[in-house]
Amino acid sequence: MDGNGRWAQRRGLPRAEGHRAGARSLRSIVEAAAAHRIGTLTVYAFSSDNWRRPRAEVAALMLLFRHYLTEEVEECLRKGVRLSAIGRRDRLPGFLTPLIEEAERRTRGGDRLHLRLALDYSAREAIVRAAAGARTREAFSQALGPDVDLLIRTAGERRLSDFLLWEAAYAELVFADELWPDFDAACLDRALQQFRSRERRFGGLTGYDEAWDASTAIA
Ligand code: IPE
Ligand code: MG
Repeated sequence: MDGNGRWAQRRGLPRAEGHRAGARSLRSIVEAAAAHRIGTLTVYAFSSDNWRRPRAEVAALMLLFRHYLTEEVEECLRKGVRLSAIGRRDRLPGFLTPLIEEAERRTRGGDRLHLRLALDYSAREAIVRAAAGARTREAFSQALGPDVDLLIRTAGERRLSDFLLWEAAYAELVFADELWPDFDAACLDRALQQFRSRERRFGGLTGYDEAWDASTAIA
């Protein structure tokens, strides 16, 4: 969800205002994603490298997460959204972890959309952790989470920034120039249109039917 800072700067506002606008944008995108029958939406809210930002900005973000988790649970319950967090929890401020656990517990039954907030998240670290605990590739994939079909990068950036590296192995990448606070339902529609126009082969060949080939091989 990139571009909050630039959005604020362009308006002569403090960066924290940009993050607040970003949270409003998230609310409308969650609704739009559910309407599009998207099963899982993972949003990069705070990367493990974001700890390098000025303390005041980190603090503002943590307070915003507290606000979001408190306010949004009822909204998620109403919308049938299951809310959960991925990433490390041991370095988050003490007031956040119980809120995350409560949000996860209360929204567990949500079956319209699974919203995953990546907080103190690093894909490399998640991979190392999953590898340490899993004996098979299936168990490893399971420990990480579902494969990503569509990965949208906002604010004109063209990099993955340690987000879902394993899960995005065959993800279709869509780059949007809009800053995250300006990313609305119409932007999501455009990204989905691009996604639908892509031909996904997963390393195979178009028009090649394995079952047909097997039967001719037997004949
Ligand atoms: C939001 O956008 C990302 C978060 C860490 C919440 P940025 O804060 O990276 O915005 P820009 O890149 O400075 O515009
Ligand atoms: Mg940025």
